[in-house]
Amino acid sequence: MKTILTGDRPTGKLHLGHYVGSLRERVLLQNSGEFDKIFIMIADAQALTDHADNPAKVRESVYNVALDYLAVGLDPTKSTLFIQSQVAELFELTAYYLNVVTVSRLERNPTVKTEIAQKGFETSIPAGFLCYPVSQAADITAFDANIVPVGEDQIPMLEQTREIVRKINDIYGEVLVAPEIYLPKNQVCRRLPGIDGKAKMSKTLGNCIYLSDSSATVAAKVKDMYTDPLHIKVSDPGHVEGNVVFTYLDAFCADKKVVADMKEHYQRGGLGDVKVKKFLLEVLEEILTPIRQRRAEYGAHPDEVLKILREGTEKAREKASEVLARLKGAMKINYFD
Ligand code: TRP
Repeated sequence: MKTILTGDRPTGKLHLGHYVGSLRERVLLQNSGEFDKIFIMIADAQALTDHADNPAKVRESVYNVALDYLAVGLDPTKSTLFIQSQVAELFELTAYYLNVVTVSRLERNPTVKTEIAQKGFETSIPAGFLCYPVSQAADITAFDANIVPVGEDQIPMLEQTREIVRKINDIYGEVLVAPEIYLPKNQVCRRLPGIDGKAKMSKTLGNCIYLSDSSATVAAKVKDMYTDPLHIKVSDPGHVEGNVVFTYLDAFCADKKVVADMKEHYQRGGLGDVKVKKFLLEVLEEILTPIRQRRAEYGAHPDEVLKILREGTEKAREKASEVLARLKGAMKINYFD
């Protein structure tokens, strides 16, 4: 069996960093026909671990992320889309996994560490937040997933999941499947910079192009993009390293030859930012136009979106309860079977 499980925290809308970092790969994997089962989860319970005081934002984002998923081409007849909080089995699994994880191991998780610093949680870490890697291990193992397509920032989560799988299997026998991470082959796609040139496109930094942005908004953002501050006159030789416009061309333009020629011309001098930006905008619009169209179609039928999520969630529960029963059997806590 080849099974995919992946997902995102609903704390806003998805952006181009999510797209090249993972969404595009998921759609390719889905359409490859190589997978028996594909589960795509909206991780609302995980979002609540640092948004307990803002459930309205999480709720609204669940719907937005679902629309983003459908818009990029995740197809509910091929992929099961579901909502994490509605699969109670995941929380039962988490409870048992917590017994094989130490607090110090959680505190050492690099992604959790970075987030704690970013959110200023140092002196008051919500316990649920500290433990979310364990719940993520439950999300993955509950579906016997062997492939997890995610962004690069999730590497430590997969490592910790594999550790948990090893410990559980050591104690109770071979009950859980160990997953592998799946990252985009193209390095620039793994960490797309923001339009301001900062290392990462991120909501908190406010440097994103969203999948749901209008053509006019995308055009304005491309116009504002960070390029080469030393490239003042068109005739000046320009730099392509750290030049966001070229990084985006590397990530989004399928025609590598055209990009290589443009880079060469830019470095030589004589190619202006306006022209390169115009080309990038065309490339982005070609990708974003069908995404916007599908978003509008589904957006006009919220009942249909809800139905997709409800049916997906039912299917997800079925699978998760099978795995939970298997673990409880192995743990000898299946008294009434
Ligand atoms: N941590 C992931 C994110 O940011 C979301 C997530 C939760 C997830 N559970 C998962 C991803 C399981 C892959 C597999 O946004």
